[in-house]
Amino acid sequence: MATQELPNESDVVINVKNKPGNEHVYPAKHAFFLDNPLRRWLMRQRAFAKQFVREGMTVLDVGCGSAPLLFDLARAVGPTGHIICADLQQGMLDRVAAKARRKRISSRVRLHRCESTKVGLEPDCVDLAIAFWMVHETPSPEAFVHEMATTVRPGGVLLIVEPKHHVKPQLLEAYENYARDCGLRMEQRPRVRFSWSLMFRRPAERANCS
Ligand SMILES: C[S@@+](CC[C@H](N)C(=O)[O-])C[C@H]1O[C@@H](n2cnc3c(N)ncnc32)[C@H](O)[C@@H]1O
Repeated sequence: MATQELPNESDVVINVKNKPGNEHVYPAKHAFFLDNPLRRWLMRQRAFAKQFVREGMTVLDVGCGSAPLLFDLARAVGPTGHIICADLQQGMLDRVAAKARRKRISSRVRLHRCESTKVGLEPDCVDLAIAFWMVHETPSPEAFVHEMATTVRPGGVLLIVEPKHHVKPQLLEAYENYARDCGLRMEQRPRVRFSWSLMFRRPAERANCS
């Protein structure tokens, strides 16, 4: 799997505005506004992790930002599980690496730098993929959903959570259609504060994406 070892913290933040299709990517320098105790408490993030994550799982937090979910996911997967934190911006991954070192959970954490049009992990490599407040920032949500449909293992889950203040419900309908097109089954709309959410499962047999 093309994941990074935890690097030394660096100040490198790529200028995502130079990348076509990513004019609205949330900047790493504002990470604190999404990663602070008040938001974690308001959004019940510990309960969120407990609801979906089991011990020993490999969980992908895609578009992790500075990974506000990191400690709760790490606690939920336990010593035998892993979290892959994936993001477009090296500046975000540097923050995740520093947090993981500080909390001594680096052995459970892998970092992965995405390209804007491709997450780029191997097929069937995660039990659960969480895209928290990120899909609306991708250049093609359709391509993203299709890629995730094969990144989660057969029987695995894709969880999309989108912010109500940014995303219209019609967009969620489009995500549902993309997921259906590549064989994912809609299972539920979990309640997540301030958010729309969709939980899909990849059938145990292989899904065929066109
Ligand atoms: C609004 S932030 C949300 C961060 C975090 N998930 C949270 O809930 O606090 C969106 C994140 O998605 C990342 N992102 C945007 N487009 C992406 C893409 N195509 N591939 C990977 N990450 C992407 C951004 O770099 C940013 O860190």
